[in-house]
Amino acid sequence: MDDISELRAQVLTQVAAASDPDALEAVRLAALGKKGAISLRLRELGGMSPEERQRAGPALNALKSEIDAALRARRAALEDAALAARLQGEWLDVTLPARPRPRGTIHPVSQVMDELTAIFADMGFSVAEGPQIESDWYNFDALNIAPEHPARQEHDTFFMHRAAGDNRPPHVLRTHTSPVQIRAMQDQGAPLRVIAPGRVYRMDMDQTHAPMFHQVEGLAIDRAITMAQLKWTLEEFCRAFFEVEAVELRFRASHFPFTEPSAEVDIRCAWQDGQLKIGEGDDWMEILGSGMVHPDVLRAGGIDPDQWQGFAFGLGIDRIAMLKYGIPDLRAFFESDLRWLRHYGFAALDLPDLPAGLSR
Ligand code: PHE
Repeated sequence: MDDISELRAQVLTQVAAASDPDALEAVRLAALGKKGAISLRLRELGGMSPEERQRAGPALNALKSEIDAALRARRAALEDAALAARLQGEWLDVTLPARPRPRGTIHPVSQVMDELTAIFADMGFSVAEGPQIESDWYNFDALNIAPEHPARQEHDTFFMHRAAGDNRPPHVLRTHTSPVQIRAMQDQGAPLRVIAPGRVYRMDMDQTHAPMFHQVEGLAIDRAITMAQLKWTLEEFCRAFFEVEAVELRFRASHFPFTEPSAEVDIRCAWQDGQLKIGEGDDWMEILGSGMVHPDVLRAGGIDPDQWQGFAFGLGIDRIAMLKYGIPDLRAFFESDLRWLRHYGFAALDLPDLPAGLSR
């Protein structure tokens, strides 16, 4: 009998001391499990004399029920405590004001347009604009591209629809930003210093071409503008834009109907681990076409070529965005993949300006 009350005291102490469900389970197994102290004793009842069994049986069964109840109560208490602790830890003030993280980013093309606008503004260029659906005259004729000129084919033009029986030349999706040269000359006359960033369209699609892409046109007209000033302007622009002192440009003699003489300009770059680097390496990437404005183009813009002359250039914005920010595939620019936009996008409201830095 004594050893039953000893056992009882011992097990109840262990139950009270169990501080987590695992410890409590260990106490239960030691008491009521198959080889538990109480179970073993219950099993011994079979070998007892009837008198002994009469005495020990009820006591042992009562002990078993009492321990069982104590275990249950302790388990419930532990669970309550665990829940209380969790609620304390996960406490949340639902009356706090919401602070949503801004998710939107500035597309690299918009970023680059802001950057180059800042650079050219610093050199005295203002921004001019023209429509994306352009007349045949502005896109071609006024730029000295006659109807039978092969450049019309080279431009892979998208034509707008004309009603049946309407024989005027169809409008086009502008194939370059050069028509804005004519519009700016007509609107503002000479002298003139403008850039015209915007969308252009050509039927072309591969890793470095998309049917819609972006150019920025540059046009400077004055009494004595020379090719040297064109070269200086472009080099100055590239140094500021790429934020690299050692930018290297290569001028190649070329031909455009709207400039004479004409030059295409390549920039020294390298492919490293699938990323483009500028200012180093042995590759050259064509980034722009340029030249001295053709007298016929000045005339089409209403400017007297005997009084004025100028330079013009057209630069691929997407190309220089790829170069500056190491973006390998042009097509991804226009797929609106949110993962891409988050990776290559720029913080909103962080407008580029020269004193503070272009690409923070
Ligand atoms: N418009 C030309 C093109 O799209 C680029 C250019 C612009 C060349 C101005 C010379 C002067 O390829």
